[in-house]
Amino acid sequence: MTEDSQQVPKHIAIIMDGNGRWAKSRHQSRFMGHRAGVKSVEKIVKHCVKCEVEVLSLFAFSSENWRRPTKEVSLLMELFAVALKQQTKRIHKNNTRLRVIGDISKFSKSLQKQIEEAQTITENNTGLTINVAANYGGRWDITRSVKQLAERVMEGSLKLEDITEQQITQGLITADLPEPDLFIRTGGEQRVSNFMLWQMAYTEFYFTDTLWPDFDEQVLDTAIASFNQRERRFGKTSEQLKECNDA
Ligand code: IPE
Ligand code: IPE
Ligand code: MG
Repeated sequence: MTEDSQQVPKHIAIIMDGNGRWAKSRHQSRFMGHRAGVKSVEKIVKHCVKCEVEVLSLFAFSSENWRRPTKEVSLLMELFAVALKQQTKRIHKNNTRLRVIGDISKFSKSLQKQIEEAQTITENNTGLTINVAANYGGRWDITRSVKQLAERVMEGSLKLEDITEQQITQGLITADLPEPDLFIRTGGEQRVSNFMLWQMAYTEFYFTDTLWPDFDEQVLDTAIASFNQRERRFGKTSEQLKECNDA
């Protein structure tokens, strides 16, 4: 529950968009926007710990972001490494578990090592789980899961007719976590840009024009308040849900 006793979503997934435009409006380089974005991450993590959110997924770098200018990509990698170095201790102290979801094999050896260390240090923490999606794509995630099942079919340990949605879910990188309840995208665009495509089948969407570096506790609380207004029917009728609540 938040301070004004709102129901807090268990899992919040965020596309942190608008860093470049934030910087441009200040006549600064895009890098300054990304740096300011890291500050917003710190603020939001702290707020999620306070509100007892279980899982926070943050889209930091998509599998398509390699298409950006080489200079921007390498600066983003550097920023990621610096942020990991600076934040891991604090994250650990807060009983928070850090995971990086995505194909990290494409990152430099040293960044991969840093990621693995941060994950190992924090893996037994029982508070908030932060998923940093880096070189992540929803299609990559689904393809990877399906390939694992195909392998089992080929070796004969799984029958084609026994493949279920549940098994595809179990092969995703988020297999042991609840699906996102609330999805937020900052920066004004209203698209999912290949984020958790399978996992967001029944997620509530919230779009805000606020640019990520300006995103703060109040905007997050507004998104949570909007989530509280929604009726999640999962295919049922409103009347059916009311009957269940009355029973
Ligand atoms: C989001 O901000 C951060 C990353 C994708 C790494 P952008 O860099 O996409 O910012 P805009 O959309 O250009 O303003
Ligand atoms: C999505 O933002 C990915 C991240 C925030 C990491 P983009 O800014 O890359 O998305 P598009 O290209 O506008 O769809
Ligand atoms: Mg963008």
